[in-house]
Amino acid sequence: MSRAGRPPFLFLLLLLFMCLLMLSPLCGCHPQSPASIRSTLRTESNHTARGGSTTAAEVAGYADVAKQIIDLAVFGAAQNRSYTRLARFTDTIGNRVSGSHSLEMAIKYMYNAMAQEGLDVHLEPVKIPHWVRGKESAEMIAPRAESLAMLGLGGSVGTPPEGIEAEVLVVQSFAELKHRASEAMAKIVVFNQPFVSYGETVAYRANGASEAAKVGAVATLIRSITPFSINSLCLSLSSPHTGLQYYQDGVKRIPSACITVEDAELMWRMAQKGQRIVVRLTMAAKTLPDADSFNTVAEIRGWQHPEQVVLLSGHLDSWDVGQGAMDDGGGVMISWEVLSLIKDLGLRPRRTLRTVLWTAEEQGGVGARQYYDQHKVNMSNFDLVMESDLGTFTPLALQFTGSDAAQKVMAEVVKLLAPINTTKLETHGEGTDISPWMQAGVPGASLHVADSRYFWFHHSEGDTMTVQDPRDMNLCSALWAVVAYVVADLQDMLPR
Ligand SMILES: *[C@@H]1O[C@H](CO)[C@@H](O)[C@H](O)[C@H]1NC(C)=O
Ligand SMILES: *[C@@H]1O[C@H](CO)[C@@H](O)[C@H](O)[C@H]1NC(C)=O
Ligand SMILES: *[C@@H]1O[C@H](CO)[C@@H](O)[C@H](O)[C@H]1NC(C)=O
Ligand SMILES: *[C@@H]1O[C@H](CO)[C@@H](O)[C@H](O)[C@H]1NC(C)=O
Ligand SMILES: [Zn+2]
Repeated sequence: MSRAGRPPFLFLLLLLFMCLLMLSPLCGCHPQSPASIRSTLRTESNHTARGGSTTAAEVAGYADVAKQIIDLAVFGAAQNRSYTRLARFTDTIGNRVSGSHSLEMAIKYMYNAMAQEGLDVHLEPVKIPHWVRGKESAEMIAPRAESLAMLGLGGSVGTPPEGIEAEVLVVQSFAELKHRASEAMAKIVVFNQPFVSYGETVAYRANGASEAAKVGAVATLIRSITPFSINSLCLSLSSPHTGLQYYQDGVKRIPSACITVEDAELMWRMAQKGQRIVVRLTMAAKTLPDADSFNTVAEIRGWQHPEQVVLLSGHLDSWDVGQGAMDDGGGVMISWEVLSLIKDLGLRPRRTLRTVLWTAEEQGGVGARQYYDQHKVNMSNFDLVMESDLGTFTPLALQFTGSDAAQKVMAEVVKLLAPINTTKLETHGEGTDISPWMQAGVPGASLHVADSRYFWFHHSEGDTMTVQDPRDMNLCSALWAVVAYVVADLQDMLPR
């Protein structure tokens, strides 16, 4: 549904009004005096504010406050809160693909929830892609009739209403496609590439359609990018995984969908035996004009350097299958939980803790890219950017990208996580939404969880609350909060 025009304008006015309210003295609502709390919670530090002088002793001085955060999140009154919030949110809104009414509802939901809690919240408008899946199906016609579980890929064009019926060419790699280019004309190319890693294998989903179109194919079916598929366990719950794909300029745009690992392997075996395979693919997918949306921003302003920021983030949009509970409802909720924990403890760090819930991440990090472009003028004030988008299962380590000097500081910070047994620091943070900052040299951190399950469920009907665990989310929230708070409160910013 296209929402361009009138409703967003009214929404903006309402927001402006609400922002003004929040800024009024009635709500100059930051808890208690930071000095009184700090003296009760941590040992006095003996530093003068100067660049790059953070010591192990200074960080160790946060042991008490770290323990208080952990106790509250894992054992105390906030136990299971991020999980409960996630369940309420996903049960109310469901999935929320870019451009959809449900994404708009999700943004309003989070705005209201965080504002009601007394956080300083505002929205930043972004134009986002609006792709609609429509009705879709795929059937094998020969050598025997069977319906194939499929999901059209984000951004794909549709087929004519009667569908595309064509013979299939099954290949295992781009190299094989090139080698057999003369066989691809007017065929549906099925990619049965083995899963190596998400980062490597996703190239088939991203570029398969254009590569096949270059050699004359009329459509592509791509084996889902996952190490695991449940088709064989339960036929009624087959699990194709969707995701974004890109058309190359100047190459014919052909319909592209994912199929299950099981069906890709089936067709591969049939082709090996020399059997002629025919498939009919029908997709009503279309792309509408860009829609109005927002990045949702909530913060606790720093008492000493409000212009300096530790940014926490997850993305609010999802694909239009499953519930987007894991990808990335979990990242959203722990990033909100950090502000709640810090507020509940009456803490306020030197620098601003800012949670940003990105819009249209699944469309290629659209909201995050715009945020970067609009805020990079203040690059030197971004102390640390954090992103959780690889699941909120049992935390294993903090992944961190930054200078050697910053690594040293972060290695001390993660020692504060001893009570939750997660003191490991890994070099090389991952992250889509924060990658522009990291590429520009801003320190970046992401959460490394026991993540083998992540790619089983993501972008599929399997991404529901059932894969989430409240205890794991408590641990993730605690880790996220300790790291963000301590970095935001150190005398000095992380050395670049
Ligand atoms: C603070 O630093 C000064 C100078 O380095 C040192 O002499 C003093 O002992 C320190 N005080 C504390 C409480 O650590
Ligand atoms: C949190 O969830 C765990 C696991 O389901 C449960 O055992 C515990 O009682 C819950 N705690 C609260 C406060 O609901
Ligand atoms: C840059 O930082 C200054 C100081 O905090 C702030 O007033 C301004 O709004 C920021 N600009 C952007 C584009 O974020
Ligand atoms: C950390 O490990 C210790 C020792 O194995 C264990 O007793 C404790 O429960 C663990 N803490 C958490 C929060 O899992
Ligand atoms: Zn994601």
